[in-house]
Amino acid sequence: MVCNSIFETLTMINNDKKQSVEEFVKTFNFDSCVFELLKFIEKDNERIKNLVISKYLKMPLSASEEEDILDYFISNSVFSAATLANPATSVVTEFLYEPKASSIIDKYFSASKGGDAIHSRIIRVEENLHLLIDKYLKNGKVLLGNLGGGPGRDVTDVFSKYYRDSDKVFSINIDKDKNALKRGKRMAERGGVADRIKFLDASFTRHKPKEKFDIIILVGVLCGLPTETCILLLKKIKPMLAKGGSIMVSNVAPKMLQDDPFTYFIMNDIMGWSLVFKEEAVLKDIFKKAGFEWQRNFTDDYGFHNMGVGVKKKSIFK
Ligand SMILES: C[S@@+](CC[C@H](N)C(=O)[O-])C[C@H]1O[C@@H](n2cnc3c(N)ncnc32)[C@H](O)[C@@H]1O
Repeated sequence: MVCNSIFETLTMINNDKKQSVEEFVKTFNFDSCVFELLKFIEKDNERIKNLVISKYLKMPLSASEEEDILDYFISNSVFSAATLANPATSVVTEFLYEPKASSIIDKYFSASKGGDAIHSRIIRVEENLHLLIDKYLKNGKVLLGNLGGGPGRDVTDVFSKYYRDSDKVFSINIDKDKNALKRGKRMAERGGVADRIKFLDASFTRHKPKEKFDIIILVGVLCGLPTETCILLLKKIKPMLAKGGSIMVSNVAPKMLQDDPFTYFIMNDIMGWSLVFKEEAVLKDIFKKAGFEWQRNFTDDYGFHNMGVGVKKKSIFK
């Protein structure tokens, strides 16, 4: 059925280069936010709408048509421009954590399942971080390493919600993006926890902490990296974690591509942000090969992100 409809859709495009949004959305059973996005583009610039659909259908486009699509997105969407400039920037994740967009295209990203899953991810990360901190607090003081933490909204939220008056919970937020760190300091001040979060402008791969971390979190960092690179990265991080310490690592799951292919199409095919989707089993294997003991996995509400939790075993080896 779907194959027939796709064939009909392709035929229609071949015939008159015009494409009905209604037909396209129906054919692929897309969410209503895709319909609203394409209807908005159609009203604004019908040619771009036709090109976007043609591109999704893998119709050949000229270099200038490709450029026109990209130009349209970056001229009409802050989210698209930020992603194109640096796909791994925390500007993009921050944008989805606290959606305030006014442009229709930007609103699409927070309304899409893929965008809402990022919002849900931070909620689940914060819940699980709270559980981990409580576990280690039983031993006394807790030192947390937020690696590639961006502004560290997750840690600031958890500290200000649960440990505002504690003098036993500390964090070092390491990121190579100075502006993310500046934002983070302001967030920590606003949350009343700035005295317990240190912001370090550095690459976490080169960091040699004076004191080992009880907990390390690595959220939104591995998603674009191949499995072998993730293993190397986790091996590099391992010496920073105290024996018996815990690590929490996120990675985007294949379910995102299955359940929200249109958002990934915009991000990847138009904006050039490619992700390496990894099943829970792959993340588990990364932990194992990097020398961490796998404990459990949790996901955002859509199952678009796996968040593995592991420990560094108390052994005589590093
Ligand atoms: C997508 S953001 C995620 C930020 C935050 N962890 C979150 O979940 O919202 C990825 C961050 O990792 C940082 N990053 C990536 N590799 C890094 C490295 N080797 N050292 C320090 N920061 C790094 C980037 O600068 C960016 O701020």
